[in-house]
Amino acid sequence: MTKEHAALTPEQLRASATRLPRVSLAHLPTPLEEMTRFAKRLEGPRIFIKRDDCTGLVFGGNKTRHNEFLMAEALRQKADVLVWGAGVQSNNCRQTVAACNKLGIDCHLYLTRVAHNDDVQGNLLLDHLMGAKVHVVDCAMGPDLDNLLLAEAEKLRQAGRKPFCWDRITGRPIAAVSYALCMAEIMEQMRAQDVTPTAVYASAAGATGAGLAIGKAVLGWKGSVRLIAPIRWPWDTAADMAEVSNQTATLLGLPQRLSKADIDVRDDFIGASYGVVTPGSREAMDLVARSEGILLDPVYTGKAMAALIADIRSGRLGPKDVAVFIHTGGTPAVFAYRDELMGQA
Ligand SMILES: Cc1ncc(COP(=O)(O)O)c(C=O)c1O
Repeated sequence: MTKEHAALTPEQLRASATRLPRVSLAHLPTPLEEMTRFAKRLEGPRIFIKRDDCTGLVFGGNKTRHNEFLMAEALRQKADVLVWGAGVQSNNCRQTVAACNKLGIDCHLYLTRVAHNDDVQGNLLLDHLMGAKVHVVDCAMGPDLDNLLLAEAEKLRQAGRKPFCWDRITGRPIAAVSYALCMAEIMEQMRAQDVTPTAVYASAAGATGAGLAIGKAVLGWKGSVRLIAPIRWPWDTAADMAEVSNQTATLLGLPQRLSKADIDVRDDFIGASYGVVTPGSREAMDLVARSEGILLDPVYTGKAMAALIADIRSGRLGPKDVAVFIHTGGTPAVFAYRDELMGQA
């Protein structure tokens, strides 16, 4: 952080967000539960899990928090159709089509199969069941897909529609507000249990991580936000997330600013590429399911939990630490990953 500013209370942070349009979509606050059996299995410190897989709207996840702000912006712009896209097993798109249905907006999805096969299972099945206009494409995730979405939105505009399009530049700072607020929610819930966390872990390479990082700075929390990237982007992720954090602070009217050095994001748990199941994510899924009855997903939360487990084993998380793991959702993907998860791929 470049400069010290007076810390805000969770209430004050929430108050700063009331200047932005918001629609209520998520079941909030999500539960925060202690993982006592899991921690014991690892002989690790106290670990809590923030159940953002329980945000509601067709199996929940982090994007339902994002969408409270993004959809409000779409409504403000009087959009009648959303143009969204990501991998074929996108949790984002599944939660977004559900939000569109709830708000009466059409939804066109552009889903790329470069990330996974396009069997109609998991998230893709849910997209169809919810009636999204699904277009399966072969396009690299990142700038190529972003440009395709903008081009498709422009076609709809020319045809007289009012599209609201996933646009990385304008969308992420808006979405990140929701995770600055999630940070406030976590701090309040921990305080209510009279526990002080020392580290928060989450799968993130975009708005979720940027929101958590700026939330930490605004609240003046001294612990670590440890972000585990599920994907490698063709840009400097830490610098990019710091930039998104700063735009989020601007939206909130707050003075805190971050630099690249303030973002603790690692890419060593992705495996060969985005979307592959790694031995670490498979182990994490097994351990959490079998000790806590909670399912992680192989692409995001499994890899983030693999990082937390590695940190316990290496001593980076010591006996005096208290970790909070944010379960960002993604579990419908397990049905599409049956072969990989059962060792038959
Ligand atoms: C389950 C899950 N966790 C984490 C993420 C990462 O979120 P973000 O891109 O906002 O960092 C995603 C993104 O799609 C996701 O689906």
